Amino acid sequence: MTSFETICVSEGTKNLKSVPHQLPIYATSSFAFESVQETIDIFTGVKDGHTYSRYGNPTIDTVAQKIAKLEGFDLHKEVHGLLTSSGMSAISTAATSILKVGETILTQNNLYGGTTVLFQNIFDRFGIKTIFCDCTDLSLVRNQLEQNPSIKLLYLETPSNPTMSCVNLASLASLAKNYGVKTIVDNTFCTPYLQRPLSLGIDIVVHSTTKFLNGHGNSISGAMVTADETLHKAMWGTLKTMGSTCNAWDAWLLNNGLKTLVLRMDKHSSNALALAQYLDNHSRVKKVNYCGLKNHESHTIASKQMSQFGGMLSFDIDGNMQDALKIIDKLKVATNAPTLGDIDTLVLHPATTSHLHVDSNARNAVGITDSLIRLSVGVEHIGDLIEDLEQALTF
Ligand SMILES: Cc1ncc(COP(=O)(O)O)c(C=O)c1O
Repeated sequence: MTSFETICVSEGTKNLKSVPHQLPIYATSSFAFESVQETIDIFTGVKDGHTYSRYGNPTIDTVAQKIAKLEGFDLHKEVHGLLTSSGMSAISTAATSILKVGETILTQNNLYGGTTVLFQNIFDRFGIKTIFCDCTDLSLVRNQLEQNPSIKLLYLETPSNPTMSCVNLASLASLAKNYGVKTIVDNTFCTPYLQRPLSLGIDIVVHSTTKFLNGHGNSISGAMVTADETLHKAMWGTLKTMGSTCNAWDAWLLNNGLKTLVLRMDKHSSNALALAQYLDNHSRVKKVNYCGLKNHESHTIASKQMSQFGGMLSFDIDGNMQDALKIIDKLKVATNAPTLGDIDTLVLHPATTSHLHVDSNARNAVGITDSLIRLSVGVEHIGDLIEDLEQALTF
């Protein structure tokens, strides 16, 4: 007879036969094997299966594959996905899977602040240099590639955070290929519903799934997606060894969000366009950054590579930093929070938050001024959002 203590510690999972309708959360660090032979077969790749959750887990892998299918929707070949512990770990894991000491990253000068700091402050210490240039200018990019054979990665973000400047993905992908340079695109702002970089020739897509893919502001995770088997294997090797794995709970929350991605992105996009048009006609607003506006410098390329223009916009007010901060404090519907892509409207002052550690000359040069306000437009009633901005801009 089994003793009392043994019943307490046993899992009792052997007789679980029902098929769950919803993805279960596998809260387990390891997986048990039927036999030593099965252990060997799974470890050596002869048989599919899980061993240890840092290497992969049914919850995490199911969601990673879903994102891979979405990013590869019109690619007609196998696409691989991996989830990571955050968007930053997706970026650092993907980049370190490609680069080694002495090599160089070529990138645009208007990236998300955290990515700029990663490249400038961390990678630099490990002998990986970064060249920042205006990647909207293809001849500048070509010159850099021509003059610097150490460039092995072209890293892009489009639309960029927070000025919504877009780069031409198809042209940059083919240019990079000519020089044997790998390409990574941060597709966080668009999600694969609005833009699919792999179909435009890009090698790897990374995401902060914390944002629109989750959509509800309740998990931190990232994703790396590629159709290149060799790059996938390299990223998986780096991921499991550096330990930047996602956890099952955050993957599960992400999966819940993914189910309503299309509904949310349609509404984010239509609300943001309406708000951008309203702000564009406001006397207190100097400039609106929304690539859906015909007067935005990236409108033509955005119309080609994006199906809608998304939920992100920023605007520069006719005033100083104190005025910008006052407007943010006056907003009642929009919440002042340092994230984006949630279902509700969020407001942020980039100069004192997301871009605080970016050199002020560098950020001013790309339009991230002290008087710039960023909005992540939610799915509320558009009338309430306009009314909220109207009262905040009146003083
Ligand atoms: C465009 C972009 N990429 C990456 C990140 C980093 O994502 P995470 O906070 O999930 O690490 C952010 C964060 O705001 C972002 O805006």
